[in-house]
Parts: sequence; structure tokens; C-alpha cells
Amino acid sequence: MSDQAQASVVQTRREGDVLVVSINNPPVNALGQAVRAGLLAAMEQAEADAAVRAVLIVGEGKAFIAGADIREFGKPAMPPSLPEVLNRMEASDKIVVAAIHGPALGGGLEVAMSAHYRLALPAAKLGLPEVNLGLLPGAGGTQRAPRLMGVAAAADLMLTGKHLSAKAALAAGLVDKLVDGKDATDATAAGLAYTNELLAAKTAPRRTRDIEIADKAAALAALDTLAADTAKKSRGLFSPLKIVECVRAAVELPFDQGIAKERALFVECLNSPQRAGLIHAFFAERETAKIPEAKAAAPRHFAKIAVIGGGTMGAGITVSALDAGLTVTMIERDAESIARGQANVEKVYNGLIAKGRMTEEAKAATMARYTPSTSYDDIRDVDLVIEAVFEDLEVKKAVFKELDRVCKAGAVLATNTSYLDIDAIAAATLRPQDVIGLHFFSPANIMKLLEIVVPAKVAPDVVTTAFELAKRMKKVPVRAGVCDGFIGNRILAVYKQAADYIMEDGASPYEIDEAVRGFGYPMGPFQVTDLAGGDIGWATRKRRAATRDPKARYVEVADRVCERGWFGQKTGRGFYLYPQGARVGQPDPEVLAIVDAERARKGVTPRQFTPDEIMRRYMAAMVNEGAKVVEEGIALRPLDVDVTFLSGYGFPRFRGGPMKWADMQGLDKVLADIREFAKEDALFWKPALLLEKLVAEGRDFESLNKAA
Ligand code: 3HC
Ligand code: NAI
Repeated sequence: MSDQAQASVVQTRREGDVLVVSINNPPVNALGQAVRAGLLAAMEQAEADAAVRAVLIVGEGKAFIAGADIREFGKPAMPPSLPEVLNRMEASDKIVVAAIHGPALGGGLEVAMSAHYRLALPAAKLGLPEVNLGLLPGAGGTQRAPRLMGVAAAADLMLTGKHLSAKAALAAGLVDKLVDGKDATDATAAGLAYTNELLAAKTAPRRTRDIEIADKAAALAALDTLAADTAKKSRGLFSPLKIVECVRAAVELPFDQGIAKERALFVECLNSPQRAGLIHAFFAERETAKIPEAKAAAPRHFAKIAVIGGGTMGAGITVSALDAGLTVTMIERDAESIARGQANVEKVYNGLIAKGRMTEEAKAATMARYTPSTSYDDIRDVDLVIEAVFEDLEVKKAVFKELDRVCKAGAVLATNTSYLDIDAIAAATLRPQDVIGLHFFSPANIMKLLEIVVPAKVAPDVVTTAFELAKRMKKVPVRAGVCDGFIGNRILAVYKQAADYIMEDGASPYEIDEAVRGFGYPMGPFQVTDLAGGDIGWATRKRRAATRDPKARYVEVADRVCERGWFGQKTGRGFYLYPQGARVGQPDPEVLAIVDAERARKGVTPRQFTPDEIMRRYMAAMVNEGAKVVEEGIALRPLDVDVTFLSGYGFPRFRGGPMKWADMQGLDKVLADIREFAKEDALFWKPALLLEKLVAEGRDFESLNKAA
């Protein structure tokens, strides 16, 4: 990095006795090499200048400092290192003050903790979220936070990755003072006033490293419990236990040895595949909003919306919309249904009240923006409609005809269909340019994923409006094309089929679920079926029966289970038994007997599958269909497939998503597996052309993400 770049990202100026060091590295003042070098140079400048008696550190723009530059991870180290810069800062004989007005996260908070005094403005957010990236605070954070805020609170901050408000940070001892103000200019003014006060009082530097941790024996005992707890809770994650180890070092070792330990464990985390997976996930989630329509069209205005249908999805979508500050009119078929729809919405808020997370007044204020109705005439002036009625093309077409009749020109008309042809739904109106898919996931007020399904005739500003809605609702949007099941459910259908084949060939549903959990999913596919209700998939299979390729292998086990009325948790049994409404199922010998009977009927001699063999097939099916979805343009990029599975299907985040997983395995290995499985069933295991092409060219999915 040139001196010029360094100078422009870290600027210094004298204000009386104080050297003001301001970091100006948009968008979030990440601590890239130039910033680190600039900070080091600023400290050298301060030390060399006898007229400087104090240093004030501030961030320009919205953030104080959002942390290390995540883009540098995985690349060769570029000196100076952040720990080196911060040790130098802390060691300074001139007092160093940090004034925090926005995010001070990760390395950003580590900068602040290495300063001698800290003040915060109301919008400050302080945290050590490295754990979310598979890391631990690696610039002294694990050693300084326990000294400043106590062992338990520091461990909690690092293990949860949560952000503290300015007030909470003051209470926790992370900052010394709260002041009013809102931006970088206010922070500089307040910081200068505070620094001058400290100088006037002849205050000496106060180094965090010198703080003694109180009651070490009790702290160590608490850490034993925390380690056991963390091992249980962190489900295969690597960095949480390393964080606990670092905190233990903070208690047991002198500061410099603690720092050395932290460095060693930080490097282990940095080199772990989980770091690569989690950082891929971080960037991928921010990339999905970058769509071709974004440049072409600004979103349409929306404030009032309508939701058609008050069932499971309609109610969840209504809650999401109300929580986003929108006004919602819900339409149902009749008085009884609308009463049920309203009750479904209120149930969510009553649950929050029962848990002490909402007040009656807040519920009343929210429900004041909700209007129940059975008449389409009440939605003449809404800006956007989301239809969530039964999954039946004819019913949906009838609803859209009605919407076409009553809605004002320019209203966005969206459907929450899971599988149906949105081009056909759009064609039921005279305004297909306004029709789009908004595929929410259940429960819609909780699940983050929103597939935005773009039919052929939709106008670009309808697409950007959908992305704007996602943002307002704090959802993770993914742009998808029209096909049966869009991105997520289409791929799900294929790997679910692979799971069925593995089951019929020899593994029990329980072994498959266990292997999938062992990979990092919270649940296996048969548990998911039981949770969602087996009848839903059964209906889909019946719908598809007529168009199913007669040569394709079809496993009847799930149908046999459904024929007995065993739809999963809601009926007390499915693939598992749920005695007395239990939420965790028990294996059912009768289901195993059904599987055996089906094998016998088909003449299948069962064979053994190790968890690894199960996962190789399960993942190969997922990746192969993912590649087809990208090849056909249903997903814009492989990363869109990754985000769909991370946010909507419980795919383990530390693996980055199925396509990232495939890259990390090596696409040639995945393709070789598919070709081997194809020897048993060439129709199902037909390699995606895109996968073959990438392997032939020695490329990976990431190369497509970059090219897009
Ligand atoms: N490094 C590089 N780029 C970053 C970054 C970082 N630490 N944090 C954010 N960005 C980028 C984003 O990728 C995005 O880029 P884009 O515009 O090209 O897509 C841009 O900054 C804006 O980010 P957001 O869209 O997330 O903006 P928000 O305003 O919604 O959120 C934020 C701001 C709360 C700061 C959020 O970006 C965030 O949580 N960032 C990550 C914070 C973090 O994890 N810090 C720890 C880093 S690891 C570390 O510090 C190690 C140390 O201990 C040694
Ligand atoms: P549901 O059966 O719980 O609710 C449907 C509601 O629509 C019922 O309350 C019904 O009275 C109402 N309705 C039916 N016809 C209507 C009409 N003409 N006008 C007004 N209201 C009408 O169904 P659910 O699960 O909420 O599904 C709704 C849609 O969401 C379906 O298209 C489904 O595929 C989709 N979806 C469902 C998911 C799930 O997990 N349940 C996930 C994602 C999408």
C-alpha cells in the first residue's frame, strides 16, 4: 500500500495538545493493511512530537471501526499486524482516548480496549463477533475484555457475538463515559472535550493489560463449567472452545503469554475450513441483494399492504409486515376464517407477551395497523399484495383475477406459492408486469429466507420493490427463476429422493438422520418431514405422479407411512413415534417393517452404509441439482444456492453452503462420486453439464461467483 493510500485512510491533525487520528476507510473503517500502517505511523508521530500530549482516535462515516478487514483473511499476512499496532498504542506514554459513535466490533473494539480511556455516543455498538466468522478476537481482545468487564461477561460477549448498546457497554465497564451526539463530528468534539479534561486533571495513561483479574479461583471454576457447556452447545464449531481456552489464559497467565496463546489459537482458527465457510456465508448473504435489476429501477413506494389468506403462512407474513412497520389488511374467505386468521396473528404476539418480550400496549399499537376483512373492496388502495391461499393453481388464479379487478394501478401483486407456475398465475391478470413470487418460509415471522421469484414478464421495479420489502422485513433475499420448486424446494426434492434411495438400499431413516445431523444439520430429512407434516410432501408426490418419468426409480415408503395416517408430529407418529405429544421422536419398529417390506417387494438386498457414504450421496445429489439450477439461470450464482440453504434449510453455516462445500471438497471429487453412483442409476445421477464443464476447465463454483 502506498504512503498516499495510507495517509488517506488514516488522517491526523493537531487540536491543541491532542493529535486527532481519524480513520476514513469506507464503508465501515475495516482495519486493512493501510489502516494498520496508518495507525502505527500516527502513534509514532505522536510519540515523536513533544507538543502532543494525548491521542484521540475516531472513525469517520457511520462506523467507529467494524473490525479486521475480513477480505484479507486467508491471504498472506501483511505487516504490521494488529496486535503489534495495539500493543504499541497501549504502551504509549501519552494518553490515548477512543470516541465511539457507531459499530466498534471485533478488531474495532480491540482498538478501543487498547486505548487508555473510552467514551461512547448513543448509537455505538460494541461487540466481539469473531465467533460468527469461525474466529476468536485475535488482537488482544480475549485478554483485555476479561480484564475490563470480568471473565463471565467477556466470555459471554465473545461466545454469543452479540452487540452491546452504549448504555450496556457502560454498565459492563467497557466504556468510561456516555455522551450525547450522533455522528463522527459529535464524537470528535466530545472526544476532544473529554481528552482535554483528562489532560487538565493530569490523568496518566491507564493500560488495560495492567488490570488485575479479581477472584481467579472462582473465575477458573466458572470457566470449567462454561467449557463443558460450550462443548455441548457449539455443535461441531471449532472456535468457541478456543475462546474459552483464551479466557482461561487471561486468568492464569501473565499478559504477554496470554497474548501469545491467543495468537496461536487465532491462527488455528484462521486456518480452519470453518473460517472459510463462515466468511463465505457472511459475504454471500450480502451479495444476494446485488441483482441485475438493481441498477435499472428504483423500488416502488409501499406502506399499505394486503395479505390474502390467514393460515400458517398468511399469519406469519402479516406479523413480519407489521413488525416492519407496514399497515396490513388481511383478506379471508368468510367470517370464521378471518377470525381464525386474526387469532393466528395475535397468538404470535401473545407468545411474546407471555415470555415478557412484549407489552400489552405494544401489541395494541401493532394490531392497530392490522385490519381483518372478507371483502376485496377493502384493498383498493394498497400498494402491495401477498397471496397465501391454498396451494392450488385454480384457486390462486381466481384470487389474482380478483386482485386484478380491485387493486389500483401499479400495485405489486405477489404470490407465496411453493411450487406453482408463477407465469401462469401472472397470466390470469391483465398486468403480468406487476406479478412476482415472494416465497417465505415457515414460520414466516422467524425464518430469514425470502426467495424472490422472477417471472418472465415482471417489471424490474417490481423486483427491486420485493428486495426493498425483504430489507424492511430483515429477511435474506435470494433471486430465483420460475421452475417447479424454485431454488430451494427443487433441490430439496432431489436430495430427499437420494435419501429415499439410500433408505431402500439399506440404511434406516434413523441412520440417515443421524448422519445428516453429524454433518451439522440440526435435524435429518425424516425428522423434517415429521415436523412439517408428511401429508404436504404426499400431496406434492400425487400431483407429480402423472408427469413422473416412468423409468425413474420411485420409493413408496413415505406413501405407505402416509396411507396409515402417520403424518408426523401432529398425528403422534410419522417416521418416528411421538408418545404423548413428545417433540423428539423415537424410532418406530413398524416403520422399519414397512421399509423391509418395500425392499422385499422390490427384490433389494439391503447393504450397509457408513455415515460418510450416506453424506457423499446426499451431498452429491444436492450439489448436482444446485449446479443444474445455476446452469439454467434459476439461481444467478452458486452463492445464491448457498444462501438459500443456509437461511432456509438449516444447512450448517460453518460449511458455507452446498456449493462452497463442493468447492472445498474439490469439484472433481464430487463429479467422480456422481459418475460412480450413475453406474447404479444413470437417470437419477446424471451429472450437471455445468459441473462437467467446470471440472474440465479446472475451475470451481467460486469462479462463477466472482465473474457475476
Ligand atoms: N471487513 C471487510 N468488509 C466489511 C467488514 C469487514 N470487517 N464489515 C462489513 N464489510 C463490508 C460488507 O461486506 C459490505 O460490503 P458491500 O457493500 O460491498 O456489500 C459493507 O461493508 C457494508 O456492510 P453491511 O452491508 O453489513 O452494512 P450494515 O450497515 O448492515 O452493517 C456492520 C454494518 C454491523 C459493521 C456489519 O457489516 C458487520 O457486522 N460487519 C462485520 C463485523 C465483524 O464481524 N467484525 C469482526 C471482524 S474479525 C476481526 O475483527 C478479527 C480481529 O479480532 C483480529
Ligand atoms: P393454510 O391452509 O394454513 O392457509 C391457507 C389459508 O388460505 C386458509 O386460512 C384459507 O381459509 C385461506 N384461503 C383459501 N382460499 C382463499 C381465498 N380464495 N381467499 C382468501 N383466503 C383463502 O396454508 P399455508 O400453509 O399457509 O400455505 C399457504 C400458501 O403458502 C400455499 O401456497 C403454500 O404452498 C405456501 N407455503 C407454505 C409453506 C408452509 O410451510 N406451510 C411454506 C412456504 C409457502
